[in-house]
Amino acid sequence: MRDRTAGLSSAAQHALEYLVDLDERPVAARVDAADVRDALGGLFPEHGEDPTAVIDALVAGAEPGLVASAGPRHFGFVTGGALPAALAADWLVSAWDQCAAFHSLSPAAAAIEEITSAWTLDLLGLPATASVGFVTGGQGANTTCLAAARHAQLAKAGWNVEDDGLIGAPPLRILCGEQAHATIYTALRQLGLGSNTPVRIGADDQGRMRPDALRHALADMDEPTIVCAQAGNVATGAFDEFEPIADACATHGAWLHVDGAFGLWAAAAPALRHLTSGVERADSWAVDAHKWLNVPYDGAMAIVADADAHVAAMSLAGPYLVVDPGQRDNTNYVPESSRRARVVPIYAALRSLGRTGVAELIGRNCAQARRMAERLNEIPGARIVNDVVLNQVLVQLPGGDDANRAAVAAVQRDGTCWLGGTTWDDRYVLRVSISNWATTDDDVDRSADAIARAAESISSM
Ligand SMILES: Cc1ncc(COP(=O)(O)O)c(C=O)c1O
Repeated sequence: MRDRTAGLSSAAQHALEYLVDLDERPVAARVDAADVRDALGGLFPEHGEDPTAVIDALVAGAEPGLVASAGPRHFGFVTGGALPAALAADWLVSAWDQCAAFHSLSPAAAAIEEITSAWTLDLLGLPATASVGFVTGGQGANTTCLAAARHAQLAKAGWNVEDDGLIGAPPLRILCGEQAHATIYTALRQLGLGSNTPVRIGADDQGRMRPDALRHALADMDEPTIVCAQAGNVATGAFDEFEPIADACATHGAWLHVDGAFGLWAAAAPALRHLTSGVERADSWAVDAHKWLNVPYDGAMAIVADADAHVAAMSLAGPYLVVDPGQRDNTNYVPESSRRARVVPIYAALRSLGRTGVAELIGRNCAQARRMAERLNEIPGARIVNDVVLNQVLVQLPGGDDANRAAVAAVQRDGTCWLGGTTWDDRYVLRVSISNWATTDDDVDRSADAIARAAESISSM
């Protein structure tokens, strides 16, 4: 008799222990990859092991190399944690082991994608007729949306890029704000459009694309055009001004894509919605769930106003693939064929929070970013260099770039919290990003104290 559940109790026990300790665990990993390789590697085993023994060994070897990025004081990159309902639902994804590609393989996954799409569009104030693909992250979302844009813009010029490729295609112009996220350029590279080809539109001191510069650049063009704007700059949190950008795109028939990996969630919070004014006029939107919606990795949404362009860019067909007429085949909206039902934890997160819960989470993290900025401002000689409009804080400590780099390293060593640095306005600064459902004001204060200690420790540099 096969035991399908062997190893599960052990995994559950280890997971519970990890989660119970998460808030107080030092945030940085205790070892690097070499130690984990030593613990878990070696020659490929000749004979298999009991599932529980495998899980126990895996935990013992991997645990020191885990970063408490799901915990409340990881302020690097833009990392969310995992809401309880989302985490529990994620376990079910593995237990159910659905192939979420076709309705015929999982009517449940098809239905949950439909429901979650409708809820997300409603919550973010986007057109109810837009199509949604459940992708791995902001990168996958940007790539998928720009593939739809490439299809639509070249189709307008009489070219079928899916059938005929790019060799001999009509010219396609891409315009990006000069602060576009790195994943936009990777997407362009993956789509054969090239990362050096975009015209870079100047930005202001917060990283917002200048609408007048965009208008000026568009005026010179009559070829099919894609414009990439941004909701939430990864350093400052700033939002492009979507109304004038959408006006300019409409005048020139350009496709407007918005990378809103984390910032688009501001549309779900009444007090912050003004930041996204006009965003609904775009043609496509990328938004992560594993960041600010606090869903376990990996989950994000590629949203396209023209569902036909979305499907034309992504669809899959073949003689053995069982297609149920009139039903949603999830694969038609994403680059992959077979994949897990990653929508399930997104559904659970939205259902467990509700409209008011999402607004509260987003609003609370933004208030905590302001609190952090106030606390850091009290450090002698420190300067907040961005307008704290969202969940991002950039602080420059006294003493120049080397001192600020040393401060980042000191904070990471201290272990109370984790943050990274970035270059803003040609200066190296500390970067704090708050997007975890479990972060408390006390976590903010403890972390501000740790940053103040690091500032003190490097004050002689
Ligand atoms: C604005 C923006 N776009 C895209 C991404 C990439 O998202 P992911 O890492 O989920 O692929 C990020 C990540 O921080 C981001 O901030």
